[in-house]
Order: sequence, then C-alpha cells, then structure tokens
Amino acid sequence: MIERIVGPAPKTDDPVEEEFEIKLRPHDFANYIGQDRLKQNLQLAIQAAKKRGEPLDHVLLYGPPGLGKTTMASVLANEMGAQIRITSGPAIERAGDLASLLTNLQDGDILFIDEIHRLHRTVEEVLYSAMEDFKLDIMLGKGPSARSMRLDLPHFTLIGATTRTGALAAPLRDRFGHIHRLEFYTPEQVEQIIVRTAGILGIKIDKPGAGLLAERARLTPRIANRLLKRVRDYADVNGDGIIDTVISTRALQLLEIDELGLDPADRMLLLAIIENYNGGPVGVETLAALTAEERSTIEDFIEPYLMQIGLLERTPRGRKVTDKTYKHLGKPMPTDNRDGGNNVQATLV
Ligand code: ADE
Repeated sequence: MIERIVGPAPKTDDPVEEEFEIKLRPHDFANYIGQDRLKQNLQLAIQAAKKRGEPLDHVLLYGPPGLGKTTMASVLANEMGAQIRITSGPAIERAGDLASLLTNLQDGDILFIDEIHRLHRTVEEVLYSAMEDFKLDIMLGKGPSARSMRLDLPHFTLIGATTRTGALAAPLRDRFGHIHRLEFYTPEQVEQIIVRTAGILGIKIDKPGAGLLAERARLTPRIANRLLKRVRDYADVNGDGIIDTVISTRALQLLEIDELGLDPADRMLLLAIIENYNGGPVGVETLAALTAEERSTIEDFIEPYLMQIGLLERTPRGRKVTDKTYKHLGKPMPTDNRDGGNNVQATLV
C-alpha cells in the first residue's frame, strides 16, 4: 500500500509524528475547536460527576480517524483533574496485560483504549466486570484445580475509541454510559485549527493560504496539520517561508492532492467504480481487490470522507459514485441505465 499524506492514521511507529501531535493537542475545552455538541454533552457529564463526587461514567467515542478522539480523551482527563493512561486494543495482548493496567490505576483515573474494537476476545471479557462492578475476575491455575478470584479495582473511567461502533460486541458497547460520534469539521473550523497550529509552530501563513489548505484537508485536523508541515517545507525551499495561496497550490500539486483533498488512492477507487462497474453499485470486497487496498482501509479511511462530500454512496447492493464524482474527475456520465434498475441518468453537459 502507498504511504498517504492524507491517510488519517497516525504513524504510531513514528515518534516524531506522535510528539508533533501531542504538542499541538489542546488541553481544555476552551482551546478545542469544533465538536460543539460533543463538548456540551461532555461538559455536562463532567459537571454532574464532579457535583456528585463520582468518577465519570465510561465514554465511547467513535468516528473516522484523525478527528480528535485521543485529544478529546486527554481534554476530558484534564477537565476532570484526572490522570490518563493511554493504550490501544492491539497493544493489550493477554488478559494479564489488562489486569496489570487496571490494578495500577487509582480511583478517578482514566484508561483510554484506542481501537477498542481490536481487543482480543479474552481480554474483552475481563473488561466487562471491570467496567460494570469494578471487579477483576482472574483464574489461578489451569485444568481441574483452577480457581477463580475476584479483586476489587479502583473506580476508574474507561474511554474507548473506535472507528465504527458496529465493529464492537454489544455487551461491550452496552457498558458505556456515554456514546458519542465525532463529526467531520467544517472548513472554517479546519482553517482555525491551521492558524492555531501555525501559531504554535511559528509558521507564517496568510489567511487565504490557510483557507486553501483547509479546503483540501478532508475536514480532518490531523490531515490539516500534516499538510501544513509539508507545505511549510515547500515554502522554506521554494519561497521565502511564508505560506500563501500560490505556495499552497504548488505544494499540493506536487503532493497530488486535488481541490477536494483527494489523493491518488481516492481517485483510483472512484475511477475503478466508474471504469470497471459503470459507476456501481459494486461490493467493497471487489473494490479491495481492484485497488489492492484492505477492506478495512477502504471502509475506515477512504470512504467516510468520500461519502461526506457526496462522491460516494453506500447502497445495500454496494458502492456507487454520484453525478458529482463524474464532474469532479472530468469523466463523461454514462447515458445508459447504470444502476441496472430504475435510476435513469442524465448526460452531463
Ligand atoms: N489540533 C488538532 N485538533 C484540534 C482541535 N479540535 N482543536 C484545536 N486544536 C487542534
């Protein structure tokens, strides 16, 4: 798979990128731009928990990657005055790993598990009683002499993050008191985030330059910040270090990112549907084979933004492009009935 500059996943094996994200992370609600409804809901929950002198109920945050789930978890911890321990589903390999994490927490601490849908089954089962009763059931020994033991755990708050709630087992999902979806940001909010980041990193960018980057950042802060860094490189080498629309346009052209923020992988997917399936519908497995991308990469990283901006539709019979897709890619629309049913298409002029 190609390394994508607009790929929303953090490169977790890249400490520089991780440090960069941490540096830019807002610490409180006041500095967290966007997600207003989520902030209101969580602020209320925090106030109520504080008033009762209790830890916050468990929180599940879901939505496309790069929208600030980890950031929101650390803001929550900060606003609660709690310590946060950050880990991820795949990092907890055995039930014993989770037991050690849980027993090292203190009352009121927050445990953040990213990609919680990727927890091993055996680990997930330990989490049930931990979340519900703050008890840890552990097995001692094996075979007929095995005994189980119940340990008391501190009253912690679990914050889980996932790209899809559908991928979560119902018993786990049901144990969260708050379930919230993170939405894509508006271009105006992304622009504010770019200006904020530029301020923190000492990058010179004018307002039209920030606006142009914001339009191409897939409505996603992580991508906006990453693009900003790449465009700064271009401005330092090919200009006087100041990012304006001319520099931004040229830098993004070099990165093959178009006016809507699509990169070659997005265009390949859309073109595959147009050229091989007459616009669709086509099943996601077929698309995965055609584009050599993993199904989960398509579902979690590529599709959400394409659907958000109306270039792709999910139907019970598969994925379909829209009129806007033909227009954007400069492809003539088919005059025949591309839905194979009752959807008569107009020809583009
Ligand atoms: N940096 C990344 N995401 C942000 C957000 N939502 N608000 C402020 N700064 C950010």
